[in-house]
Amino acid sequence: MEKIAIIGTGYVGLVTGTCFAELGNKVICVDSDIEKINSLISGEIPIYEPGLSALVKKNIKRKRLFFSSEIKKAVRFASIIFIAVGTPSDKKGAADLSAVESVSTEIARYMKSYKLVVEKSTVPVETGRWVEDTLHTFKKKKVKFDIASNPEFLREGCAIKDFMQPNRIVIGVQTKKAENILRKLYKPFKAPIVVTDIKSAEIIKHASNSFLSMKISFINTISKICDLCGADIKQVAEGMGLDKRIGKEFLNAGIGYGGFCFPKDLAAFIHIAESLGYSAEMLKVIAKVNQDQKKIFIDKIKSTLWNLNNKTIGILGIAFKPNTDDIRMAPSLDIIKILQKEGVKIKAYDPKATDKAKKVLNGVEFCKDPYEVANGSDCLAIVTEWDEFKKMNLKKIKRLLKQPIIIDGRNIFEPDVMVKLGFRYVCMGRR
Ligand code: UDX
Repeated sequence: MEKIAIIGTGYVGLVTGTCFAELGNKVICVDSDIEKINSLISGEIPIYEPGLSALVKKNIKRKRLFFSSEIKKAVRFASIIFIAVGTPSDKKGAADLSAVESVSTEIARYMKSYKLVVEKSTVPVETGRWVEDTLHTFKKKKVKFDIASNPEFLREGCAIKDFMQPNRIVIGVQTKKAENILRKLYKPFKAPIVVTDIKSAEIIKHASNSFLSMKISFINTISKICDLCGADIKQVAEGMGLDKRIGKEFLNAGIGYGGFCFPKDLAAFIHIAESLGYSAEMLKVIAKVNQDQKKIFIDKIKSTLWNLNNKTIGILGIAFKPNTDDIRMAPSLDIIKILQKEGVKIKAYDPKATDKAKKVLNGVEFCKDPYEVANGSDCLAIVTEWDEFKKMNLKKIKRLLKQPIIIDGRNIFEPDVMVKLGFRYVCMGRR
């Protein structure tokens, strides 16, 4: 059993802290947002993540999981401190590390004995050095510490499974002592542990997310070619993916990736390369293809509906992917705004993200289910591939729509089945 502090109770911090508690450790999660901490103490979690709420409640009850707004309390309590604060993009696309800096300063001030301070947030290479310098500058003279980088690879929507059954665990360290502490902490896991220097661990995280973004932009490029020549992207992806060197994951063509990781991490990685004197063209193209994908989707809507002005379009899905209520950098937001500029009236539904969407979208009629969206709309546009949409009563949908048109940005249906049902069905890289 280890005593752990997690600083920052966002997605990564909350999942990490809860899962470490579930494994039998004593964990204190800290956040400067007092309201958030108060609701967490009462077992209310601020995000929708399958299974997380039950796990938080269970571990609070078993007295393994605690919440506080005081870093001091957490630093004094724990021997391993994870920094899991946000690292959003600044205006130039670089990671804004001010929260990492201020938390490092506070940790240093309160350290009375040896601590292992671990970067968990996604940070650019060299952040470890800055954290180390900051700890040195502000700590009491005799206190010793180590730093480490231990990037997370959690996907929203299946974060607990990703944490408990990872493909690999990456540990970037400078000392054997730090390595041993983290090896012991991760002992219950079956996954291979990759031990590296700190910079390499930092790069592994950015490179992994960039590579996955590249797979998506690559398949979207091929999907465009399929559209033009009449090939089928699903068959192409299957044929490619069975080659073990390629792998079949992350080859789903669509309207591109969103969320708070891929767009931000790619931008930060491009920025780091630039600050090191290298213009990473390869990475830049990934981002451009992703941006263009939304335009391709809108062009499909336009070329199916003809004039957009005064048409009503029903949007199915606002979250950036299924099984989450997260709408950060969701393609839906840009798509809805562009359509509204063209004079389109938007009706929309998402199983979990409607409350968040209401705060950032104006002039949208939010509906209680896909049928209310379809009622009187000129077409349905599928933006997020929720299971609920895959199971819709399509005959009912067809009756409710003004015209039986579905533009599917996520390829959730089979084109020939849809045609047999009487739909005009337009999707991505298939016909
Ligand atoms: C990602 C990484 O997968 C995870 O390892 C990292 O630590 C955090 O960022 P997440 O953003 O939660 O996780 O979701 P992910 O499942 O990776 O999907 C990201 C985006 O890519 C979504 O918008 C999704 O719709 C899109 N995507 C994914 C595709 O368009 N096609 C695919 O084949 C896969």
